[in-house]
Amino acid sequence: MNAQELIDTARALVADDKGLLAMDESNPTCNQRFASLGIAQTEEARHAWRELIVTTPRLGESISGVILYDETIRQQKKDGTPFVKVITDAGIIPGIKVDSGAKDLAGHPGEKITEGLDGLRERLAEYAQMGARFAKWRAVIAVDDCLPSRGCIEANAQALARYAALCQEAGLVPVVEPEVLMDGDHTLARCFEVTQEVLRTVFSQLYMQGVMLEGVILKPNMVLAGLTCPKQETVDEVADATVKCLLRTVPAAIAGIAFLSGGQSGELASARLNAMNVRFKSQLPWPLAFSFARAIQQPAMEIWQGEVAHVPAAQQALLQRARCNRAARRGEYNSAMEKT
Ligand code: 13P
Repeated sequence: MNAQELIDTARALVADDKGLLAMDESNPTCNQRFASLGIAQTEEARHAWRELIVTTPRLGESISGVILYDETIRQQKKDGTPFVKVITDAGIIPGIKVDSGAKDLAGHPGEKITEGLDGLRERLAEYAQMGARFAKWRAVIAVDDCLPSRGCIEANAQALARYAALCQEAGLVPVVEPEVLMDGDHTLARCFEVTQEVLRTVFSQLYMQGVMLEGVILKPNMVLAGLTCPKQETVDEVADATVKCLLRTVPAAIAGIAFLSGGQSGELASARLNAMNVRFKSQLPWPLAFSFARAIQQPAMEIWQGEVAHVPAAQQALLQRARCNRAARRGEYNSAMEKT
């Protein structure tokens, strides 16, 4: 591991008010999103969608890194240019999702454990050789009156820390993603309490596994009421709760924080990120950035519909969401930007 290289990459991922574009949906998840829009669930369609994304003109003005999936990192454009080269030529850093998904956690009904540690050292070496410079691992934490259990939080936090240590050994920056899910009718206060406990546990495990914090990006959820909770807080209240929770739990040493969107609309995700930066940017030890999948891709996918003729309009919509999020990092986003 070259510590300085890791630190430089981690800083580059959150530099210049840019952020990450997650395009690392597993085949079943990608197919599910296609199915909901009537798009064919084939390797060819997934390839066409990913080619549309990586060839979007000027994407590198707002996006610092893209997170690929095993299928995608091995693909090329129709003219034979590898996706990794297309991305790198656009000034964007290629990354790779390396977990193998969340599976039922034995003995813990309703809870999941993310798997993928077996053989990870060898897979990381292969991805690094293919040009990846950072990686992602997502743990999912379900919330209700009784969940999550301490057992679920600890098992997932330990896996995240072991993944992060292996990444740094291989020269890849770990994006550490403990996602407290939005599903359910829990309150914002409950999400705060759970997120706080999860982040404390994750950082304790990162410390125990000897992970160098300066070479880490944290990818957390925002602190929000559950999707079906009758009381939904304002944008500013979400911003305040999220920053308060992060200040209590996240060491100042990490390179940056890049939120997941988790099922929020693109507009709300941008508005909330913007409010955090407007209200707190000058007082925070780390940059607050984005690492969105749905909140960047969704409008573009709806326009594309699997049709070649719709590619330019879909790319325009993708670029628009990327630009809105860059503006949100600067605290310069407003809803009028959605109409331009
Ligand atoms: P969403 O922004 O759609 O939550 O996806 C982010 C991500 O990478 C999930 O692992």
